[in-house]
Amino acid sequence: MRVLFSAAEIAARVDALAAEIVRKLPADFVMVGVLKGAWVFVADLARALDRAGNRPEIEFMRLASYGLAKESSGSVQLVGDIPAGLGRRPILLVDDIVDTGRSIAYAAARLRERGIGDLWTCALLDKPQRREVKVAIDFVGFTVGDVFVVGYGTDYAEKYRHLPYIGVVE
Ligand code: IMP
Ligand code: MG
Repeated sequence: MRVLFSAAEIAARVDALAAEIVRKLPADFVMVGVLKGAWVFVADLARALDRAGNRPEIEFMRLASYGLAKESSGSVQLVGDIPAGLGRRPILLVDDIVDTGRSIAYAAARLRERGIGDLWTCALLDKPQRREVKVAIDFVGFTVGDVFVVGYGTDYAEKYRHLPYIGVVE
């Protein structure tokens, strides 16, 4: 395993992201994390937001797209329902990685169908070279090239999610 971003580098970046988010979003936003990949990022970002003076509510939606392969299947499915009763609340949609862009575009579309308030997007990792669907990412942790990563919540065939760092399997 080659470490791409250490636990300490991620922690510093997450704190900086939280400060940026607090500056730009209204105070009463709801974080909506995309499962399963964003579970660690959401947990750390929520606590970083607390340190930055925000008290976000936290919800999740669960998508399936990758299966056990490294390449996206191309079709995204909603397998865990979107929280009800968000009303017109401002939303911060949080995912681990934006690759082709299909997952976050799909998640944003499902949220917008419910008539939510303003929507911002946040991803720990952005792979702009891999983009197939045009989608705006408002807050990005790190930009990476065309590399398949694991750890810090993200997996390869359900392995490595527990790693405290982001690495590349060699
Ligand atoms: P997209 O729909 O192609 O943008 O893919 C986004 C989703 O695929 C992310 O939320 C991740 O869960 C997963 N994914 C994309 N790239 C990687 C990777 O390098 N490692 C692990 N999971 C990835
Ligand atoms: Mg994901």
